[in-house]
Amino acid sequence: MLHPVLVIVFLLLSSTSSGARAEQPPPVNYMLHCMGCHLADGSGGPPEVPDVRGEMGRLLSIEGGRAYLVQVPGAAQAPISDAELAGVVNYMLETFNAGTLPRDYAPLTEDEVALWREDWLPDVAAVREKLMARLRDATKRSQTRETLERVIHERNDIEAEPRTSLE
Ligand code: HEC
Repeated sequence: MLHPVLVIVFLLLSSTSSGARAEQPPPVNYMLHCMGCHLADGSGGPPEVPDVRGEMGRLLSIEGGRAYLVQVPGAAQAPISDAELAGVVNYMLETFNAGTLPRDYAPLTEDEVALWREDWLPDVAAVREKLMARLRDATKRSQTRETLERVIHERNDIEAEPRTSLE
């Protein structure tokens, strides 16, 4: 097995250094442009840098959440192409949020990034606050639904129990 650092060094060396900047694979872009704040495992440094593990996957199902993932300044302003930004955010989703991706998960596309990235969020704190409130509401609603479903299920189970020999 090659050491991961050697793999990254190899990837960096194998990219061309002439002309236009070569596109880098998502793990390299993560290391170069995101890891300084978000750390290698996505745990960040709350409360300043949020822990994105699990949370980004849940944001995908919230109205406005998908666009937000590329509109936060750290993402939108990174000196990488739209395709690379799509790649690095998908990498974060698939690596740190595998357990919370919605069932209909579709990776971000270059076109979506191009569309949303322009409208990056200078007042990110207010937008984030609103999204987090939506996330809490949605979590509460889905917990209530689960509880209701469980109660209904248990009642059906009781009713479905075979009558014992009383006849
Ligand atoms: C200078 C530090 C810094 C860097 C570098 C950085 N981020 Fe962030 N990131 C933050 C902070 C702080 C937040 C919380 C929102 C805010 O205040 O901008 C955040 C939030 C996020 C979020 C939303 C999660 C949430 O809970 O709000 C995503 C997605 C994200 N960053 C992706 C990236 C990507 C992708 C890169 C690299 C291309 C990157 N970030 C680079 C600091 C950084």
